[in-house]
Amino acid sequence: MNIIDIWNPKGGQGKSMFAINLAGAALELGRKPLVICQDPQGTSTLYYKYGKLPFEVMSEVPKSKPDADVIIFDHQASDWDVPQGNLIVMPVKPSRDQYATYLDAYKKAKAMGKKIVTIVTDTQMQRPDEKSITLNLVDKGAFWVPSSGVFSRAATDYLTIFDDELNRAYKVKERRRELCQIMTEILVKNI
Ligand SMILES: Nc1ncnc2c1ncn2[C@@H]1O[C@H](COP(=O)(O)OP(=O)(O)OP(=O)(O)O)[C@@H](O)[C@H]1O
Ligand SMILES: [Mg+2]
Repeated sequence: MNIIDIWNPKGGQGKSMFAINLAGAALELGRKPLVICQDPQGTSTLYYKYGKLPFEVMSEVPKSKPDADVIIFDHQASDWDVPQGNLIVMPVKPSRDQYATYLDAYKKAKAMGKKIVTIVTDTQMQRPDEKSITLNLVDKGAFWVPSSGVFSRAATDYLTIFDDELNRAYKVKERRRELCQIMTEILVKNI
């Protein structure tokens, strides 16, 4: 069983978006994902309530062993406690203040010996500071998922970007490929 914590104390960095869509990617790769939303009012719980996700989202840790082989925890904003799992996925939007919070949290987790997969996301490439932070992080091994309207389209209908309804969305194939690549690295290559 793989346990993945999606964590960044800064709000709005894409934690819930990646929790849902990396679970979608895990399913594409033939695994059985479960998302556990650590925020009772959280976005990923809403997906489950209002959408038709092909996997389950729970709002608390189940008492007995769940019928899943990839568990993804969607942590809430302002949670500075480093997650218990060994593998932490940290999404970050690369503007200066958001990057500063990411760095503080990253150092805290690194000091505890965690494996950290960074995903730079939603870069506004026309902004030189965002572009340089993005390139710098990618240079250090981070993944990059560019800014894309397909994420908000999917979120509006509480779908993953893998849903057939979005097959014709702009750049959806690229975004699907990127998410599957991240999940492959995590699950198969076990980084
Ligand atoms: N690559 C991207 N392109 C476009 N929009 C994006 C991208 N990544 C994230 N977003 C958008 O950013 C917004 C915030 O994402 P999300 O709610 O997942 O963040 P969060 O870290 O879970 O926030 P919170 O800390 O409040 O729980 C969403 O509207 C999401 O669709
Ligand atoms: Mg969230």
